[in-house]
Amino acid sequence: MNRSMSAMRPQPRPGVLDIEAYVPGKSSAPGVAKIFKLSSNETPLGPSPHAIAAYKSVAAHLEDYPDGSASDLREAIGHAFGLDPARIVCGAGSDDLLNLLARAYLADGDEAIHTTHGFLVYPIAALGAGAKPVAVPETDYTADVDAILAAVTKKTKIVFLANPNNPTGTALSFDEVKRLHRGLPPHVLLVLDAAYAEYVRRNDYESGIELVATSENVVMTRTFSKIHGLAALRLGWMFGPAHVIDAVNRIRGPFNVNAPAIAAGIAAIKDMAHVERSREHNTRWLGWLTEEIAKLGLKVTPSVANFVLIHFPQTKGRTAKDADAFLTARGLILRQVGAYKLPHALRMSVGTEEANKLVVAALKEFLAKSA
Ligand SMILES: Cc1ncc(COP(=O)(O)O)c(C=O)c1O
Repeated sequence: MNRSMSAMRPQPRPGVLDIEAYVPGKSSAPGVAKIFKLSSNETPLGPSPHAIAAYKSVAAHLEDYPDGSASDLREAIGHAFGLDPARIVCGAGSDDLLNLLARAYLADGDEAIHTTHGFLVYPIAALGAGAKPVAVPETDYTADVDAILAAVTKKTKIVFLANPNNPTGTALSFDEVKRLHRGLPPHVLLVLDAAYAEYVRRNDYESGIELVATSENVVMTRTFSKIHGLAALRLGWMFGPAHVIDAVNRIRGPFNVNAPAIAAGIAAIKDMAHVERSREHNTRWLGWLTEEIAKLGLKVTPSVANFVLIHFPQTKGRTAKDADAFLTARGLILRQVGAYKLPHALRMSVGTEEANKLVVAALKEFLAKSA
């Protein structure tokens, strides 16, 4: 086809072809019988058995549309967190909500700020909405409030902050988040993405509920994909001021959350004991992995989430890429994070006891071999 013909065909809006499509974590290792997938921060404990039963119970009624407003689920979330269900919107994963916020609040030429090693969906959502993603440097792999505030311009409409951040595992204290909020002009929407909030054990952390409740320009997004173990069903929610909820409800798909997800989500959020077990497992093994990997001489960024960022040397035979190949050949699948501007690191999700021990043993072998 010549150039003039291709110029005549339908064209995506500016920005769309600048998007580097999101590449999910690997889930296979060719030729390896047993796989341990530690590449997408899924929970090793799986979902609550009640959630699985609730999911199955919907199979008898697949001909029915789901409740488009997910009322019972919003009610259950509201009850669990002490929130007004009218100020909650559910989505097909929190990705759905992040994209809806971008579509609702970004126009062509606007700017949306995220941090350099922030979650990749933010620049994708911004570009998809015709806006310009602005990456702001981090300090010690942690969001830097002063740097974010310095990047705000008249065109800034959204600041996306993953807290804790993926893939670094670091978090800002509530005081720092409040300082960030205080420094933002009132028309800038601060999106606090708290996908990993349940794992955080630090006393100085707050997921965003308090700030949303007391301001007009903050929203918090949450997910059922991590501690609740329902990633396959695609379920997330957001809590925001009434006017933001209203805007998002106007543009979301009328049935954006499916019936099995609603049923499983309600059962999952009620099963506090299961959540607590998952949290306990994570706390134990996050500490263990951080210590054991550091003992091998590799740098690990201190994490408050359910994964660790492991830094590798740049010497031939010892790089992150070499380590990834070595581990993958043993069925241990971690995440390369070059797309997050971390080409010398791998991210490892906290796994089962067996998986965690296998990774540490394999890393030991890898480093000894390449010494
Ligand atoms: C920081 C962050 N936000 C949001 C998400 C998306 O989660 P969901 O499965 O709810 O779309 C992830 C998933 O990896 C994440 O790491």
